[in-house]
Amino acid sequence: MAQNRKLSDISWDDFQALSLIEKGPFFQGNTPHTLIAQQFTRAGLEELCTLATRIKRINKRRDGANYLKSLLSDKRAMLYFAQPSSRTYLSFNAACQILGLDTMDVRDTKTSSEVKGESPEDTIRTFSSYVDMIIMRHPVGGFAERVAWMLAHTNREIPLLNAGSGADQHPTQALLDVYTLTRSLNRVGGMDGKHVAFVGDLARGRTVRSLAWMLTLYDDMTLYFVAPEPLQIGQDILDLLDQAGTKYVVTQDFASVMPIADAIYMTRIQDEWDVAGQSSTTGSSEYRIEAKHMDILKDTTAILHPLPRREEISTDIDNDPRAMYWRQMRNGMWIRAALMLKTFHRQDEVHQYYDDYKPES
Ligand code: CP
Repeated sequence: MAQNRKLSDISWDDFQALSLIEKGPFFQGNTPHTLIAQQFTRAGLEELCTLATRIKRINKRRDGANYLKSLLSDKRAMLYFAQPSSRTYLSFNAACQILGLDTMDVRDTKTSSEVKGESPEDTIRTFSSYVDMIIMRHPVGGFAERVAWMLAHTNREIPLLNAGSGADQHPTQALLDVYTLTRSLNRVGGMDGKHVAFVGDLARGRTVRSLAWMLTLYDDMTLYFVAPEPLQIGQDILDLLDQAGTKYVVTQDFASVMPIADAIYMTRIQDEWDVAGQSSTTGSSEYRIEAKHMDILKDTTAILHPLPRREEISTDIDNDPRAMYWRQMRNGMWIRAALMLKTFHRQDEVHQYYDDYKPES
């Protein structure tokens, strides 16, 4: 069991050989990194959600916004995005601004010295010399873990926040998804016992892989994985759900799931990962939500999407109260601000400020 062990105490080969569940405790406690969904506990998620809401409320008032801006004004963050991004990049950048962090970025690796043959590890180590935190999106699965391990073996182990790695993990997206689900499902009795459907390209969707694990932390949930066979959820995720004792259904039949889902998490085709034309299997309208489906859904079903979308959600349902995806996107800014405060251990001050001033909801 990896409990209470540190990245600095384990070889890379031994660390790599661990399962995701065994890796989780390496990123709990006082370790600064946010890398995988498996490092979170339910209490930790609930604390982040409460903190996010408090930041949002404090930020509404000018004096509150100025207070928040003072909290991390002694810190600098590097936004290293080696893959395209709109929401994750902008919401992290906005969260930095809310908390007063200065930011630098590299969004095109052709502008860094990687083009001169510098290794990706040396590139990150170079960044770590100038900033107090690195927020990284990278196309190579597992590279974020490698970087965290490398930083743990230097004298400057600054926090690394995984903003999406390969097709395997997107833990901060899962945080904003949980935040949005919590706020939506609290209106109908909370998260426990609910039916959550994932629809679309589940094989290559890193947001689904991270969120599915986080939902195992809630009681008596049933997860539905709705996709054509070539794009179905990976067996590795189903094995994790089995280990966690979370119920799930794997199906191609979206029509049968629509009326029973308390939340539906739509995803786009991730054709940037195509190697065998898998994307052509979702050409039909079976895996879409359109206006004609809204009467089939419950009145309270929350519709989420990590975005960007293509055809899988018709724009004519955007103003339906069940369409949560625009709110979900904005929630990313608040939960990422909460995560950064927690990363730098400044959350207690914000709770105290909130309790003293009680900003309006
Ligand atoms: N959801 C998400 O990760 O969006 P971006 O790729 O735009 O950051």
